[in-house]
Amino acid sequence: MHLILGASGQLGSRVAHRLLDAGEPVRAVTRHPQRVEALATRGAEVIQGDLLERDWMPAALNGARSVVLAAHGLVPPSRKNHPDAVDGTGTRHLLDQASRNGVERVVHVSVAGGKGPETSFMKVKRQTEGHLRASGLPHTILRPTVFMENHALVLMGEPLRDKGSVTLFGRGATPLNWISAGDVADRVVEALGDMDAPDATVEIGGPEVLSRLEVLALLEEALGRSAKRRHAPVAVVRILKGVVGPFHPGMRHLLELVLAEETRPDSVPVDPTRFQWIGPTRVAEVVERWVHGDRSAA
Ligand SMILES: NC(=O)c1ccc[n+]([C@@H]2O[C@H](COP(=O)([O-])OP(=O)(O)OC[C@H]3O[C@@H](n4cnc5c(N)ncnc54)[C@H](OP(=O)(O)O)[C@@H]3O)[C@@H](O)[C@H]2O)c1
Repeated sequence: MHLILGASGQLGSRVAHRLLDAGEPVRAVTRHPQRVEALATRGAEVIQGDLLERDWMPAALNGARSVVLAAHGLVPPSRKNHPDAVDGTGTRHLLDQASRNGVERVVHVSVAGGKGPETSFMKVKRQTEGHLRASGLPHTILRPTVFMENHALVLMGEPLRDKGSVTLFGRGATPLNWISAGDVADRVVEALGDMDAPDATVEIGGPEVLSRLEVLALLEEALGRSAKRRHAPVAVVRILKGVVGPFHPGMRHLLELVLAEETRPDSVPVDPTRFQWIGPTRVAEVVERWVHGDRSAA
């Protein structure tokens, strides 16, 4: 049985569907079971679980050979459900229970780093990676770059298609490496396929370095529609972080990432020599499939 945290998300849902395609048993964890109805219909067991709580964990782990960690608390920004609580404490509690339950393999989806100082979000991810290594649980840690499906399609494509307007933080000109969640899902499934593989931490990226503005141009071309662009100025983001951040951990993490991308480009991963694997899918392919409603290759 494969236990999947974040089974309703971009990555977790793809992992779950790929495993079901291969006839593997899947247990999907979500706080909102209606979000994984498509998985339930295909035979996945559904567990209502929240990483901020622990009571559901023993039942979820019972009989689980592997655990996929693909949940995060970064978006939407929340006072209660934020990276320190979800990617940090909650995930670490799950790992503690997993080692007591004889789980044979953990695939942990972390995040790639840049050359510069780590953001608070990255520090939380790295702490949990360290906790996993220290647990003795056999594991693969994947550190992917920016997912095309979230950052291109959800953040820009959908508002462009539905409202004709897109909001960018700052100029949106920082070069970013983009990977498709589908390629990451393939790597997760591959890691689950070899239960005896040595422990590994793998930085993975995609084939292109593009700014958000360049990706927006691809979306505009594919949709045949120009975006009314709004740019939230960096100064405003900085003030917002100073005012709201101390009381709102979710906003603090998110705004720090936004500011780092705009003002410290060395905080984002772009250098292909850092990647041990580069996914084949290009942004234009994901955009084309989305525009034409082709889910088969997702
Ligand atoms: N998106 C990116 O660009 C990117 C880049 C690099 C690495 N990653 C990493 O890849 C993994 C998957 O990200 P994604 O973009 O696929 O996620 P996503 O689509 O944003 O979905 C987030 C998932 O986290 C779950 N979640 C949030 N709070 C939770 C809580 N308290 N308890 C249990 N589950 C909770 C949500 O489940 P429910 O709401 O259904 O409960 C949802 O399935 C994460 O570890 C993320 O850090 C993402």
